[in-house]
Amino acid sequence: MKHYLGISAGFHDAAATVINDCGNVVYAGHAERYSKIKNDPNIHQDMIWELAEGRHIDHIAYYETPWKKQLRQWYSGQGIEWNKLTTHQIVRQQLKGYFDNVPITAYNHHLSHAAAGFQTSPFLSATVVVIDAIGEWDTISIWAAEYKNKKAVYKKLWGQKYPKSIGLFYSAITERIGLRPMEDEYITMGMSAYGEAKYTDTMRILADENLHIGIDHMFLPTAEHADIAASAQAVAEELIYSVMRRARAYNYSKNLVYMGGVALNCLANRNLGEYFEKVWIMPNPGDAGSSLGAAALAYGGRINFTNAFLGTDIPGAYPVNDIISSLLRDKICGVASGRAEFGPRALGNRSLLADPRGDDIKDKVNAIKRRQQFRPFAPVILEEFVNEYFDMPSGWTSSRYMQIVGRCRMRNLFPAIVHVDGTSRIQTVPADGSGIRQLLEAWYKATGCPMLLNTSLNIRGEPMVNDRQDADRFEQLYNLKVHS
Ligand SMILES: [Fe+2]
Repeated sequence: MKHYLGISAGFHDAAATVINDCGNVVYAGHAERYSKIKNDPNIHQDMIWELAEGRHIDHIAYYETPWKKQLRQWYSGQGIEWNKLTTHQIVRQQLKGYFDNVPITAYNHHLSHAAAGFQTSPFLSATVVVIDAIGEWDTISIWAAEYKNKKAVYKKLWGQKYPKSIGLFYSAITERIGLRPMEDEYITMGMSAYGEAKYTDTMRILADENLHIGIDHMFLPTAEHADIAASAQAVAEELIYSVMRRARAYNYSKNLVYMGGVALNCLANRNLGEYFEKVWIMPNPGDAGSSLGAAALAYGGRINFTNAFLGTDIPGAYPVNDIISSLLRDKICGVASGRAEFGPRALGNRSLLADPRGDDIKDKVNAIKRRQQFRPFAPVILEEFVNEYFDMPSGWTSSRYMQIVGRCRMRNLFPAIVHVDGTSRIQTVPADGSGIRQLLEAWYKATGCPMLLNTSLNIRGEPMVNDRQDADRFEQLYNLKVHS
């Protein structure tokens, strides 16, 4: 059987994906989970062993074209990284001498995003929109995608090039309010609910500028951080929707595939249904997910994508009964079971779970997570109950990868999972027989509540727990049971 290895590495958040010639993703993981270095740009040795175990790799696919990126970096005054000038240089460095004789192909950065989305989507044809910070030159692209003779075919309809960039704009604002750019954008988004969009005129002018090196810390010097965040979120949404209108105007398809790091903005995502009938966002829409996109391009056909549990395996049955006992006794526990999530969200296999009912649970979870008090936690709910508990935005009947927010209909009963604006970042779980599904069913049977609080299981300052050793470390450090 043939195997295609996709690599996204060398810059930030390294990841790798292996697809076999039946179109199954047999492995997809993030380097940071192995090295414990958040957003680690380099592929980890243990990851190479794991992805190659028992397989022959026939083809390596890299997620972007290095010389084009270097040309843009030179143009923008960042200099040239001579050791990252060719695909061979980067891939050989990253794979540490493994697979030395395997042929390598480099693809276009935005095309890899588009493929990661379209080839995992339920659609046979779609309009694909990619919005990110920057790859080679494109910062926005719109594609028409379909299958011809079972091979995915992409036609680029429109593109916007560097330096104008919605992603760079949002990252620059994130830095301005004292957070880490390219990492903490979701905190900026969370903070926006606390502010007033007072500065949208100034923001619109700013968004038109080259923001690659950030903005002056004296930009709006007396403004509250929350008002800056709210204004930036409002303008980012305006810009995103103008791209969606443009994409829809091509009248190619009523199906939208939306990718790129900006597709992680779940506040903006809730209104996509106004522009397209059906929407698919792959659970890992940023550059790490492009390792899957590059492998998908090398494979060529449709991917059998059923869930995001594609990384390191902690074998054994999902410990449903143990978790229920812990939750009934302590209201909170961890779980590390099955394959790790591919993407930034814990979806039930590397999760800290809690009873979402009542006032005291947020403090209990925060005693471990120690994150900003203003940020709520996310609910995970049996999909058939979602409309009872939340108002879903139009066009969305499910949210299996926590990609949108909806208004909670019972915010007084579940304060820990509701944001100040009354919304929650929802994860719905269909009847797919997964571990988290079995757990929610048992929890509903025991309590009458179809919902749990779900946040990622990670030691403070570290990426998500990956293997059993990490889970043991977590348990000892926080004196909290982690079921495996
Ligand atoms: Fe990107």
